[in-house]
This record gives sequence, structure tokens and C-alpha cells, in this order.
Amino acid sequence: MRDVKVRKIAVIGAGLSGLGAIKCCLEEGLEPVCFEKSNDIGGLWRYEDSSESGCPGIYKSLTCNTSKEMTAFSDYPFPDHYPNYLHNSKMMEYLRMYARHFGLVQHIQFLVCSVRKRLDFSTSGQWDVVVETNGKQKSHIFDGIMICSGQYTEKYLPLQDFSGIQKFRGRYLHSWEYKKPDEFVGKRVVVIGIGNSGADVAGEISRVAEQVFLSTRQGSWIWNRVWDNGNPIDVTLFTHYNSTVQKFCPTFLINRWMENKLNAKFNHANYGLQPKHRFLSYQATMSDDLANHIITGRVVVKPNVKEFTITSVIFDDGTEESIDAVVFATGYTFSLPFLEDDSGILDSQRSMFKFVFPPQLEKPTLAFIGLVQPVGAIIPISELQSRWVVSIFKGLKKLPSERDMMADITRKRKELAKIVLESPRVSRRVQYIEYMDEIASELGVKPSLFTLLFWDAKLAKEIFYGPCTSYQYRLQGPGKWSGSRKAILTQRDRILKPLKTRMLTTSESPSSSRFWVRCIFAVICLSVPILGIMQMTCN
Ligand SMILES: Cc1cc2nc3c(=O)[nH]c(=O)nc-3n(C[C@H](O)[C@H](O)[C@H](O)COP(=O)(O)OP(=O)(O)OC[C@H]3O[C@@H](n4cnc5c(N)ncnc54)[C@H](O)[C@@H]3O)c2cc1C
Ligand SMILES: *[C@@H]1O[C@H](CO)[C@@H](O)[C@H](O)[C@H]1NC(C)=O
Ligand SMILES: *[C@@H]1O[C@H](CO)[C@@H](O)[C@H](O)[C@H]1NC(C)=O
Repeated sequence: MRDVKVRKIAVIGAGLSGLGAIKCCLEEGLEPVCFEKSNDIGGLWRYEDSSESGCPGIYKSLTCNTSKEMTAFSDYPFPDHYPNYLHNSKMMEYLRMYARHFGLVQHIQFLVCSVRKRLDFSTSGQWDVVVETNGKQKSHIFDGIMICSGQYTEKYLPLQDFSGIQKFRGRYLHSWEYKKPDEFVGKRVVVIGIGNSGADVAGEISRVAEQVFLSTRQGSWIWNRVWDNGNPIDVTLFTHYNSTVQKFCPTFLINRWMENKLNAKFNHANYGLQPKHRFLSYQATMSDDLANHIITGRVVVKPNVKEFTITSVIFDDGTEESIDAVVFATGYTFSLPFLEDDSGILDSQRSMFKFVFPPQLEKPTLAFIGLVQPVGAIIPISELQSRWVVSIFKGLKKLPSERDMMADITRKRKELAKIVLESPRVSRRVQYIEYMDEIASELGVKPSLFTLLFWDAKLAKEIFYGPCTSYQYRLQGPGKWSGSRKAILTQRDRILKPLKTRMLTTSESPSSSRFWVRCIFAVICLSVPILGIMQMTCN
């Protein structure tokens, strides 16, 4: 196979994945042109008062479920005073700062586009990108395509599963359209689905509604942003140390440990939330206040909805409640409308090598960025994917043969199926550290702990025991960043900074009195033998 020279790259979408992709192209001397169909950057994180068809939609109060140190781009830490869990407006602010800092906006055209293989693709590896301006179609030739179009634009609204919904007179909507609780004041509302959005929306509406019912077929494990000692959960759990322990630890033990821990906060069975599945088998729900809403009766947990009547809902257990409104928090389906008719790119199972490269293509000049479902933050993942893709585009790294790629895909599917429930929702699930290390190894930027241990033990220790932040993938190899060591060693300061907004004086600190007690105790212990010796000499 003759190498093709790749220079002009089309990046589709200017959400956080697209912004990272543009930056990676620039960093490696490629010429990116980004196409964004809305009129602004930010994708999912740009809040609008009404959701637009085909675009992501979020509610006004949406707050990150991953903490800032784990979420940051690998060479652009969040400002230290930012809170650990960011409101969507703050996240948007960060994305704008990132775009400005690296001069990304000038490479973006706010146009819808679609992608087609060129006729001579098998030799050139080139693509036609078709854009529409003033009603006229125009086609541009590109050497490479990075698809960063997101996965939360097509709402999944399985109305066929809810008999009687046609005759229901109340209002119903998908969480994608939900913005604020105002219109639910004094209403009786059912929220269907207990994912992150379902739990958030039910809790928020319950503050103003007359009553909220949260209907769930399978229940869910609920975990919290605020973990032991008030540290962010991902900072505590996602460490190399933990991931090493977990490799040697049988799955059932990890499940039991985590479930016991979650049940110690509140007993999931008593609260009607206990799922049949084990903790690792399905995405847990991140919610800090669902238990509060349940124990105060504002949210009542219910089983699956059996049917709707004109004014009420009948649940599987036969209970009936009169209802004014329904929110379907039933998630999203995955679609790639601008590729869908082109069956020469993806197979029917949408197989992608490491969730990035379609293995069937004659030339590796098209890649998907950010189309995984990580248990953890997405920015570092899509950024690392982009760095890897750029190195493949430039021919610095090679992909395995189609057969080897398919074998890898099949093996991963089998491994996943052993742990998780059969469901399209979790078919692209990856464990954060495992996946980051895997892509970093492909690219040659995985830090070598063994070598570091000799040269920089302090750094090695923080990388192993500390949170697995993305800065460590900039310590060596292509895309090395001179600030990464410092960013790693100061990450704990940035976590604490926004919390330490009321300085404690020393006398208030409970440990200081203990310090003095210890000093006095030490003096006594030391002086007893000395006094003894003095007595002996005197005698
Ligand atoms: C409610 C919710 C909360 C979340 N919270 C977190 C969190 O706390 N932390 C975290 O890490 N992840 C979170 N996620 C995951 C989330 O998907 C990512 O954070 C992130 O938004 C993904 O960015 P993206 O750039 O891949 O996609 P998007 O943000 O969806 O951006 C895609 C962009 O592509 C554009 N586009 C699409 N098709 C075309 C086309 N044909 N032509 C031109 N432009 C196009 C769209 O307009 C959009 O701007 C959350 C997801 C949801 C739904
Ligand atoms: C992960 O490590 C932390 C300490 O860093 C520890 O408290 C926790 O129990 C570990 N969790 C798992 C699942 O190993
Ligand atoms: C954060 O929320 C998104 C959207 O609901 C979800 O896909 C992701 O798994 C969540 N992350 C964590 C760590 O809970």
C-alpha cells in the first residue's frame, strides 16, 4: 500500500471533541477545516432556551458529573478557583477559553455538511465534503475526515411501549426538551427512566411539583459526586493503583465492595431502587440528592408504566395515579445521518477499531472521535483519540490489518459481554484508565512508571496513587508538553482551592490541640528516664 499524503482534514462538529481535534491537527501541522451545523461552538454544553432538532439539548441546571481535574484537556488545566463540578455555563466558558487560547475559531465554518467517498478513494483515500451555502451545494476535497458529531442528538422515545399514550390528555416530553421546572409548579408528574437525566429532572421538578413519581423498570445503583472525605468520586476511584488492584481482583468482589459502600449511604432495597444487575453490569446513576427527595416523599419510586389513560398512569403493580405531565428520560439513539446511506464505511454492527477506525476502509482516512461511553470524563478520551488519529493520518503510526482489527473488536465485545448486560446502551462502554492507557500505548505517550520511579519518584508516586488525570499523557512522546509535570504535582491544590474559601485560624483547628498534648506527652516520656538517671547519680 502506497502512503498517501494527508494534509487537509475535515472535522465535523465543533463540540468539545471537534475543538480538541482541530487543536491536534494544528499541533501536527495539518490543515483542519471544521464544519459546525449550529451557529456556535460547544455542542452539548451550549445551553439554549429551546432544543433544536438534530442538536444536543440540555436543561438549565445541568452540572458536570465528572470533576474538573479529570475532565480537563491534557495541556490546559481548569483555572484553580473553578469549582470541582462545573455548571454547564462554566464548562462552556472553559471551552471558549480553550478555543481562544489555541486560536481554533478561525478554522471553523458554521455550515452543515455531509461526507462521501471520492470515486478514486481506493487509491487516493480522499473524501468529498458537501456543504450547503445559500441553497447551493458545494463540494470540497479532503484528505482525511474526523467525525466529532456527538451521540446525544437523537432522542429515544419508545412510545410504542406505552399503550394508551395517544389518548393521554396531559403534556409529555423527552428530557432532551426539558429546560426548567417552572411549568410543573403544583403539577403531578411522572418521570420515566432513572439515568443521570431522569434522576436530575425528577429531583428538580419535585421541589415545585405537587408530587413526582419516578418510574424505573430495572432500578439503578446511585453514586455521588461527593465521595469519602468530601473528595470528588472520580479523583478517588480512578487511580492507577485502583485499576491495578481491580485487574487482580475478581469481578464479584469489586461488585460486592462497591454495592456495600453504596448501600451504607442508603439501603437501595428499602428505597425501591435496588436493581437485579450488579454494580459493574450497567451505568450507575450519578445523583447527590435523589435519596433526600425520596426520604422527604417528594419523589415516589414506582415500577414500569403499564399504560396511560386519559388523565392517569397505571403502573405494573396495578397502582394508578392521576398525572398532569410525563417526562421521558429514556435516553438517546445513536445515528450518523450524514453517513448512513454509505454502507461502504461501516458494517451493520458499526464495528470500529478501538471505537475510532472503521476496519473495512481501504485507506485509514476516516475516524470517529468521542463515540465511546466512558465510565469517566470524555474530553481526555476524545483528545487522545484525536492525537492517535492524527499520527495515523500522517503515516507516523500504522493500523493493523483488517483481519487483526476485526479480531480485536470481536475479542473486546466478548470481554464486555461477560460483565455488562446485553444492551445497545452499554455496547460502547469503556473503562476510563484502561482505555486511556490502551490508546496512549498505540501513540507512544503512556508514561513509564518504572523508569520514572528512578528519575522522579515524587512524580511516579502521584501518577500511581493520585487521580489518573490526562496531563500524564503529555510527559513524553509526540505532543509532549513542558507544563505537564507541574500540572500533575499541583492537581491536588486545584481540587482544594475552590473549597478553601474560609481560612481557618490555627486555634480552631482540632488537630492543633492534639499536637500540644502529644508534645507534652513526649516531654514527659523523655524526661522520666533522664530524671531517673539524675536521681541515680545524686545518690
Ligand atoms: C446530559 C448529559 C450530561 C453529560 N455530562 C458529562 C460530564 O459531566 N462529563 C463528561 O465528560 N461527559 C458528559 N456527557 C457526555 C457528553 O457527550 C460529552 O461531554 C460531550 O458533550 C461530547 O462532546 P462531542 O463534541 O463529542 O459532542 P457534542 O457536544 O454533541 O457536539 C457535536 C457537535 O457536532 C455538530 N454536528 C453534528 N452533526 C453535524 C453535521 N452533519 N455537520 C456539522 N456539524 C454537525 C453538532 O451541532 C454539535 O455542535 C454528558 C452527556 C449528556 C447527554
Ligand atoms: C481506590 O483507592 C482509594 C484510595 O486511593 C480507596 O479508598 C478505594 O477503596 C479504592 N477503590 C477500589 C474500588 O479499589
Ligand atoms: C455523566 O452523564 C452522562 C449522560 O447522562 C453519562 O453518559 C455518563 O456516563 C455520566 N458519567 C458518569 C461518570 O456517571
